Amino acid sequence: MSGEHVASAVNVDAWEQRTRVHFDAPMYGVDAFRDGATTLKAPELELVGDVRGRRLLHLQCHFGLDTLSWARRGAIATGVDFSPAAIAAARRHAREQGMEATFICEDVQRLGALPDRFDVAVATYGVMCWIGSLSAWAGAIAANLAPGGRFVLVEFHPLLELLAVGKVSGADSYFGWHNPVHSISTGTYAAPGASIAYEEYRWQHTVGDVATALLDAGLALEGVHELPFCAYPLLEGLQLGPDGLWWPADESRVPYMYALVARAPR
Ligand SMILES: C[S@@+](CC[C@H](N)C(=O)[O-])C[C@H]1O[C@@H](n2cnc3c(N)ncnc32)[C@H](O)[C@@H]1O
Repeated sequence: MSGEHVASAVNVDAWEQRTRVHFDAPMYGVDAFRDGATTLKAPELELVGDVRGRRLLHLQCHFGLDTLSWARRGAIATGVDFSPAAIAAARRHAREQGMEATFICEDVQRLGALPDRFDVAVATYGVMCWIGSLSAWAGAIAANLAPGGRFVLVEFHPLLELLAVGKVSGADSYFGWHNPVHSISTGTYAAPGASIAYEEYRWQHTVGDVATALLDAGLALEGVHELPFCAYPLLEGLQLGPDGLWWPADESRVPYMYALVARAPR
């Protein structure tokens, strides 16, 4: 197996283990979702906009709570994830909720063109560090958007790695130089005490690298936003605002997240 395939197989196994403890982790809010709450946050809601009747592709959907939240807002939703346990949990949960959504188990870098084209594709929070080939990732997005379709990415800013070393990608430099960081982790961010241990490979991609990959795949960039708040309390000193986002107590000096909006040619 090539180095890339080894890294991918190792990461699938890591996410299989994480998924098994995430479904019941309070952070994921499955009970609140069952009671009607959305798991979507203000940045993606604002950037994606009205999805009623729109074909929506949710990349790296984990066990599908966001996918189903988009479906609840009226989207014809498809979620993709490379973890069989995550896709099985997503399908089971959709069935239990009596909700319609399609779930596909595949590495986004090997997705190819699905039978349908999508009006919008979305990926959020903790997705880029698992992507070894930005060109394969961006190519899959381009291949699956309908003419004029939009892609929205909302992601932790790679600068966070310098503020809290190892927090997301595990890098100790802003620049990843395309080399993955190999580590052995225990527990997970949603269940720190869980007795699981696994290997993983994570990549650091700069905002410029990600934006350029989308341009190289033929998409036009419509927005590059660096955001002064975080969707999760990844760093100390952040306070939960009434908007459901985590803000620094003092004047913001760094970007915690970024968002890219790109459009396929018409
Ligand atoms: C942090 S979670 C994403 C959470 C996301 N905010 C959501 O909607 O729930 C990362 C997800 O990416 C998936 N993943 C990682 N690398 C992948 C890849 N190359 N192809 C497809 N899914 C991948 C993992 O299995 C995991 O479910």
